[in-house]
Amino acid sequence: MKFFIDTANLAQIKEAQDLGVLDGVTTNPSLMAKEGITGEANVLDHYRAICDIVDGDVSAEVISTDFEGMVREGEILAALDEKIVVKIPMIKDGVKALKYFSNKGVKTNCTLIFSAGQALMAAKAGASYVSPFIGRLDDISTDGLGLIESIRLIFDNYAFDTEILAASVRHPMHIIECAQIGADVITGPLSAMEALMKHPLTDIGLATFLADHAKANS
Ligand code: E4P
Repeated sequence: MKFFIDTANLAQIKEAQDLGVLDGVTTNPSLMAKEGITGEANVLDHYRAICDIVDGDVSAEVISTDFEGMVREGEILAALDEKIVVKIPMIKDGVKALKYFSNKGVKTNCTLIFSAGQALMAAKAGASYVSPFIGRLDDISTDGLGLIESIRLIFDNYAFDTEILAASVRHPMHIIECAQIGADVITGPLSAMEALMKHPLTDIGLATFLADHAKANS
């Protein structure tokens, strides 16, 4: 299972990279805005800076919603670095753009997936990744993890190469359940990954080991 971090914050990306378990980064226009990155030149520079930190795939999202615009933007993004994956929204022109980039051998991530039908269409168009947003589905009392299960079944039935990138992950249980279901990738905040390492019995056990060692060696 791959771990992507869902942020445009360079310090957090570096921290996750230094942990040694990071496989990539996902960003979106809201995350870029949150870091105060505005204007095309600054946005492109920021993607270059992210690519300099990580070893794996870096999803960079197009802003256009028409086919020509998505192709134009996607080509500029893809030319930045071989790690760039062009992130395209699940809309009709987006499906055409996924097919265009798939034919050209450019990796894509189809974002804003909220149904199995959308994931199937993206896979048919040759998307490298589909991003079902499980947290946002949970937010409206819908079964986010159930969607991952449905997509897993469909992709396995037909041996689609498209990877399931569980997005909008909010907490460690999302990651564990995605791993049980068989999502290929999760993307979420650093806090969710760090929480996987925590257990109170680990802390108590370590404190006891260190105290016993100190007593025996005093
Ligand atoms: C996916 O690529 C998105 O950037 C993301 O996971 C959205 O998460 P959110 O619902 O926490 O904003």
